[in-house]
Amino acid sequence: MDKETRMMIFCLLLAAISSPVLTGEWKANVVKDLDVLVTSCVVVPCSFTHPKERLPSSRLRGIWHRSTFRDQFIYNEDSTQILENFRGRTRLLGHLGQNNCTLEITKIKDHDNGPFCFRVELARTETDSSTIDKFSFVEDCVAFRMLPDPPKPTLTHPKTAIQGRPYTVTCSVTHTCPSYVPKLTWSPVTEDDVVTEVQKEIRFGYWEAQSILTFTPEEKDDHTEVTCTAEFNGGSTSFTVLNLYVKRTENYNHIIIPTVVAIVTAVIFAVFCIVMVKRYRGRIAELQSGDGSMWNRLSRLSRRTKNVNPKSSADQKLAKVRFPSPKSQPKSCNYQEDLDDGDVYMNTADLNVYGNI
Ligand SMILES: *[C@@H]1O[C@H](CO)[C@@H](O)[C@H](O)[C@H]1NC(C)=O
Repeated sequence: MDKETRMMIFCLLLAAISSPVLTGEWKANVVKDLDVLVTSCVVVPCSFTHPKERLPSSRLRGIWHRSTFRDQFIYNEDSTQILENFRGRTRLLGHLGQNNCTLEITKIKDHDNGPFCFRVELARTETDSSTIDKFSFVEDCVAFRMLPDPPKPTLTHPKTAIQGRPYTVTCSVTHTCPSYVPKLTWSPVTEDDVVTEVQKEIRFGYWEAQSILTFTPEEKDDHTEVTCTAEFNGGSTSFTVLNLYVKRTENYNHIIIPTVVAIVTAVIFAVFCIVMVKRYRGRIAELQSGDGSMWNRLSRLSRRTKNVNPKSSADQKLAKVRFPSPKSQPKSCNYQEDLDDGDVYMNTADLNVYGNI
């Protein structure tokens, strides 16, 4: 009993799966309804199956007609058969040989709401257009909801931008016309900004156009506006504004600057002190130059120091160059003179030379 039931279910399932594949039947897969922007365009996704063997496009004729009046065509290969109102506005995007009956309607008018149904006719041969079979898929028709105004784009982004770090804003808008996608533009936009565009089908018949903007905000960009504008086929536009809040990055300038200033001040002060001490020492020596015995002793002492450390003479010369002082310098020079001949009197001559200059 149990086994029989299971067997029956299995057989039914097998039949259900295999029947459309093996035999084929009149079947259409058409989107039921779509939001359509007036003045813009729409693409109605549609596919179908028929019971005959696979036929080339040339032996298939596709027709779209009003659901209530099957002889009112909105699309026909023979354009003279099309309702005047729709002439030049409809196009089959799909290849019938690939079972694709996708329809495009442009310059949508407020009263184009449908419903519209697809019909397929199978021709006897490529040249003989007499129909051997035809089918109207009146169970699977499309109706439009008319949008008088374009939808506004939506902006997704992190709450705050951080100064100096890349910031990404995504602008997206849904539409039903993938053959003429809405154009998304940013303002303001600079050369450094990176804009990426993405198109994707979000559900049967509905598409999303995305524009992804990446830029590096600066401090001056705080409290400014970024606008994303969507321009739809037919010319209608909509936009959304983003108020930008830029968070300043933490910097240590408030610590670094005073520290640097303090160090520089200390160095300048130290150099000043050293110079002053040298100068002061020079002046003492000058005062003492009258006292021969004292000076000679100092001189000898200095000579000894020179011999031990000849570098200090160079140092003194350096000091002389950087901070010229007519009064003190002769003395430092004098040490050198002393080394040569120990003639103390020469100092005065030196002094005079400097004095004249
Ligand atoms: C039908 O044709 C349209 C337009 O060429 C295409 O975008 C769509 O992907 C096709 N559908 C299928 C199911 O192949």
